[in-house]
Amino acid sequence: MSTTLDSPRVQSILDRLFQDADSGDPRIIARVRADWERRGPSPDPEGLAHMFADAYLPVSREVGRLLHLLAFAARARTVVEFGTSFGISTLFLAAAVRDGGGGRVIGSEMHPEKVRRARNNLDESGLGDLVEIREGDALVTLRDVEGPVDFVLLDGWKNLYLPVLRTLEPRLRRGALIVADDLDLAPDDLRPYLEYVRRAGSGYGSVEIPLGDRLEVSCWHGRDGGEGEA
Ligand SMILES: C[S@@+](CC[C@H](N)C(=O)[O-])C[C@H]1O[C@@H](n2cnc3c(N)ncnc32)[C@H](O)[C@@H]1O
Repeated sequence: MSTTLDSPRVQSILDRLFQDADSGDPRIIARVRADWERRGPSPDPEGLAHMFADAYLPVSREVGRLLHLLAFAARARTVVEFGTSFGISTLFLAAAVRDGGGGRVIGSEMHPEKVRRARNNLDESGLGDLVEIREGDALVTLRDVEGPVDFVLLDGWKNLYLPVLRTLEPRLRRGALIVADDLDLAPDDLRPYLEYVRRAGSGYGSVEIPLGDRLEVSCWHGRDGGEGEA
């Protein structure tokens, strides 16, 4: 049986979006790096979002396929995404939700123009009815997501992975999967997150996967006597 991900409609949009990313992102990343070398890295999340306003910064195709198969295998009905950009990872996740029989993907994106373009891409793919994209700072917009949450993708700014996870933790279903992308990109920013999910007694089982820019896949077991959805 073929999947929604393999449908010509979804594949042609993904091909176009990955091509755009491949042709535009390297120039933008080089410009931002040069700027950081002159003036130091931008400290505030909005400043960073502005600098990367035209950059996709997407998950790789292989990571996208892994997201699709994990979310499908988990029969995820509620998926939360931190960092939607133009919606490439969202497409993989929404295809998995469609293939699993339905549900919703709640994306989050700080940059208004990216929200608009991600919305268009998802509508064009025929998966828009499954997706809500919350505009603004995910630390605020994801606060009232209704649980149980079955699957989380962390792919926004790296120093916020831990606070975003802590915001969602009380609503995680036991057995929920959390995928944190880009371990190679900002090791210092990611250290607190990795220490948290790998710590004995954290409530998570966690393993690193050497795919794309490396990712961490964690499973919420729950804590003895702790909070969280059953
Ligand atoms: C690496 S890109 C996401 C790529 C996307 N997941 C994909 O695969 O196509 C990170 C995105 O997160 C957004 N972002 C970063 N911090 C955020 C925050 N606190 N709230 C909402 N969005 C944020 C940025 O604007 C940027 O578009």
